[in-house]
Amino acid sequence: MAIQNPYREIVLSDTDIMVELENIYEKKWQWTEHFWNTHPIVLEIGTGMGNYFSKQVWENPEMNYVWIELRYKRLYYSAEKCRKTKNEWENKNFIMLKDFGQNIDKIFCENEISETYVFFPDPWGKKNTQKKHRLLQADFLANLYSITKVWGKLFYKTDHREYFETTLKVIEGQWLWKISKMTQNYEDDEIFDTKNITEFEAMYRWDKIEINYVELVK
Ligand SMILES: C[S@@+](CC[C@H](N)C(=O)[O-])C[C@H]1O[C@@H](n2cnc3c(N)ncnc32)[C@H](O)[C@@H]1O
Repeated sequence: MAIQNPYREIVLSDTDIMVELENIYEKKWQWTEHFWNTHPIVLEIGTGMGNYFSKQVWENPEMNYVWIELRYKRLYYSAEKCRKTKNEWENKNFIMLKDFGQNIDKIFCENEISETYVFFPDPWGKKNTQKKHRLLQADFLANLYSITKVWGKLFYKTDHREYFETTLKVIEGQWLWKISKMTQNYEDDEIFDTKNITEFEAMYRWDKIEINYVELVK
């Protein structure tokens, strides 16, 4: 008998997490109504356990956060962390979606997103057959560009040098995104706050693994 993921049922009854794709894609023209405001939308793909982003939700009540993640357990813990930062009567400025980040064009319309964060996406190994599963590929980057507002940004970090360099080549070839900041060892730079990092970044830093970082602007 197949073992059922214990977090599945919990997530299905969680009103801060959307699972049904039909319902998610219906939101495409409805985000203003969903949040009851016209605040800028921040998108985060591959949320993980949500330490970093739950803090953002709390610190920036004038922004709306949409998170896309695949795994039930991670969705559940991230939503829990966000709820802890909110009073019950406060308007919720976040929603989590269980979907593939590759589907952003079905979820948002053009010029809708102000900022996107992709931190430590799964690198999908060394074999070419696996690399087709990578998130940061030509179609995704073009779709993300289209749903991003003019002057909107994409923030991308990875420990995987080859994935990083491959992504940069695609970006250069597309002539869409402009690089506004980049480093392959931002330990030396003053552009980040080590007290405010994701779970995977904490792990890589602990292991003294260099982190590749780029900010792209539309
Ligand atoms: C390496 S973890 C990084 C998590 C988090 N961003 C961090 O820095 O700690 C990658 C996350 O992306 C999720 N993920 C993998 N492929 C995805 C996809 N195509 N769309 C959305 N999320 C994805 C995984 O479930 C996992 O939680």
